[in-house]
Amino acid sequence: MFARIAAPDPYDFFLSVSLLLVATDPHGAVIGVLMALPPVQILGQARQAGVPIADVRVAAKTVVKIKAVAVAPDARGAGVGSALIDQCLAVYTQLGWRLIYGQIDADSTLDVYYSRLGFAVLDRGQGIDLDDLLGFPLSIHSLPVERLFLRRTPDDGPGPAEPGSS
Ligand SMILES: CC(C)(COP(=O)(O)OP(=O)(O)OC[C@H]1O[C@@H](n2cnc3c(N)ncnc32)[C@H](O)[C@@H]1OP(=O)(O)O)[C@@H](O)C(=O)NCCC(=O)NCCS
Repeated sequence: MFARIAAPDPYDFFLSVSLLLVATDPHGAVIGVLMALPPVQILGQARQAGVPIADVRVAAKTVVKIKAVAVAPDARGAGVGSALIDQCLAVYTQLGWRLIYGQIDADSTLDVYYSRLGFAVLDRGQGIDLDDLLGFPLSIHSLPVERLFLRRTPDDGPGPAEPGSS
């Protein structure tokens, strides 16, 4: 497995704090992938609503969303998905991110999967209030057809930093 972290791009701050992890088999074939990035839609809406760009950047360096995890069907059940998620948690925790979350379909059985990995899985439609983390009002909403899963990291890290900056 190896990690590839997107290079900082002055024209796309969100991309600079995004992460792409790829798992390969011993022959180099891709068998799993994870993509994580800030909650782009929510932060874009916040910006449009007048939240200062500095606050949006703080949020993007505090909260990250696991946007996608997928493992090739014939490679499933061997710990690849868990390893990708654990590595994602390790990277963002080490760099000072405070909340890692994602969403699943409300009817999915993945709540069991993420619970086993140490995430809290919220009820359908239940959102996340970020005020305490960010110091300004912002929340992540959830539709009744989905459930959010989340993990907060300990508040003793080195503080927000961008992947690749240390
Ligand atoms: C979910 C997924 C990433 C797990 O990858 P993986 O490498 O097979 O996972 P791991 O090997 O780390 O864990 C396997 C365990 O998770 C369980 N698991 C896998 N998918 C599950 C699901 N949808 N619901 C409940 N449990 C699930 C397996 O039963 C297995 O349990 P066991 O250890 O008791 O046998 C993979 O099944 C996948 O790509 N699914 C399709 C895409 C998807 O649903 N992605 C998640 C979107 S949030």
